[in-house]
Amino acid sequence: MIQHDVLIIGSGAAGLTAALVLAERCKVLVLAKGALDGGSTAWAQGGIAAVLDEGDTFEDHIRDTMIAGGGLNRRETVEFVVEHAPEAIRRLAEIGVPFNAEAGALHLTREGGHSHRRIVHVDDATGFAVQKALIAAAKAHPNITLKPDMVVVDLVTDRHRGDGKPGNRVWGVYALDQSTGRVGCFSARATILATGGAGRTYLFSTAPRGATGDGIAMAWRAGARVSNMEFMQFHPTCLYNLEVKNFLITEAVRGEGGHLKLPPGVPGGGERFMPRFDPREELAPRDIVARAIDHEIKRLGLDYVHLDISHKDPEFVRGHFPNIYERLLGLGIDMTKEPIPVVPAQHYTCGGVLIDLNGRTDLPGLYAVGECSESGLHGANRLASNSLLECFVFGDAAARDILARWDQFEAPPKLRAWDESRVTDSDEEVVIKQNWTELRRFMWNYVGIVRTNKRLERAAHRIKLLRNEVAEYYQHFRVSADLIELRNLVDTASLIIKSARARRESRGLHFNQDYPETQPAARDTILVPDR
Ligand code: FAD
Ligand code: SIN
Repeated sequence: MIQHDVLIIGSGAAGLTAALVLAERCKVLVLAKGALDGGSTAWAQGGIAAVLDEGDTFEDHIRDTMIAGGGLNRRETVEFVVEHAPEAIRRLAEIGVPFNAEAGALHLTREGGHSHRRIVHVDDATGFAVQKALIAAAKAHPNITLKPDMVVVDLVTDRHRGDGKPGNRVWGVYALDQSTGRVGCFSARATILATGGAGRTYLFSTAPRGATGDGIAMAWRAGARVSNMEFMQFHPTCLYNLEVKNFLITEAVRGEGGHLKLPPGVPGGGERFMPRFDPREELAPRDIVARAIDHEIKRLGLDYVHLDISHKDPEFVRGHFPNIYERLLGLGIDMTKEPIPVVPAQHYTCGGVLIDLNGRTDLPGLYAVGECSESGLHGANRLASNSLLECFVFGDAAARDILARWDQFEAPPKLRAWDESRVTDSDEEVVIKQNWTELRRFMWNYVGIVRTNKRLERAAHRIKLLRNEVAEYYQHFRVSADLIELRNLVDTASLIIKSARARRESRGLHFNQDYPETQPAARDTILVPDR
């Protein structure tokens, strides 16, 4: 058993923010399942929302967040995050994030659902710069140990105590070391899940391969409540390309004047369609824009719609979107001269492990922060660029809560080692691949942008079969990274379907044709595990 003061699962924006605060007073171990920069953080483009402009106010940011969130947000959380945003940006600048500035002030861009310019950014690759600065700061800290290529299998709780004492206290994790193939037990006084989202439950997603809902599934299996999993966000503008499947075209392209148009060759070809759907046009919140695109694609039998910013000065376009410009040029698209083919794709997991304002979950000793958590900030639909912000504010809050309560965190007891009796390697890797593809495909078709009772029922039936098959497989074979992820995907998809079936209305990202109305009272979908 390897013991540390605090264990953090995940080296993205949420995990490393927490690590840097904790390291002031304790020894921290950070585990990541692949490379340290392998999560969504490094892929973030648009930026981070914060009230920094004189004409802007906290109240406006709060209102925009709650309008986008379909009124389901918890106001206390929204206030907490919005009011801590300027401080979070200051801390990032302090560790060297080179935010774009103009005339001595940070440059602020605009995205859908925001009533003001309030997005700080580093060109069109904000996440890359943030991830780099966080890793550099963490590496430089003597109290932080970073361990990549460690795939956490499950949480270790009282159930795994050597002395048999009952309870649901979390004491750490079992993790597969990819370099040795062995599973070790890592214990700590407190454990923080910062494992990111579950985008890869869907066939098309902007998220990296590792976004398989691991933290959500592990917390659920250990007995924590999970909330609002039906609110899966689809980003309106993912590049449509037969080779490159998950390249995002930032919302800031629309923020800086880009238009959504129907492609030529159909009635209304070359014309903008968003004015027909919403008075905020291309800058309506994401759920509305994604649904409008989906509607036009289905109505006209299209493969994609066009996102066009070629009416702007080429220098302006290249200056604002240097990375996207280069990437598209490499694929034969010059965005200064021609429109970009785009489709909606899964982008963000609004639901997750239920937490309070300190990042505490239901389980003693366990915290959750960032995209794997549900803090009440996003409600039924996340406002653009509020996600990284949530990671910084809650990473900090959870770490401070642990430090403030340090005396209450006992040292871990003796815990059972991983059961090595499953020694057989699977000779049927094809089963894992097949199940993974099947799951992602039916989630896309049946639990996507537009849902119906019938489709959700079909998905529920399929996930039941798949869960049984994966559970049996898991019991018989030695764990591998792929099997661990598939097990988590199946559990997470099951939570999404269960939540979607429980909501008998349409709100924000959850649109069910059989219940098109929004109920007067906004209620969270809180799933409670059998304990
Ligand atoms: P991640 O950064 O995803 O990190 C997850 C970590 O957990 C990784 O280190 C991973 O290895 C680790 N992990 C997961 N499972 C395990 C396991 N089983 N064992 C060990 N480690 C594990 N948000 C914004 O606010 N602004 C933007 O401009 C923006 N742009 C985006 C663009 C794209 C293409 C995408 C996909 C997302 C974007 N988002 C944006 C959303 C935002 O990037 C994410 O919500 C945020 O980065 C999540 O950070 P995180 O720390 O919670 O998780
Ligand atoms: C984008 O740049 O469009 C993504 C922003 C976000 O997900 O908040």
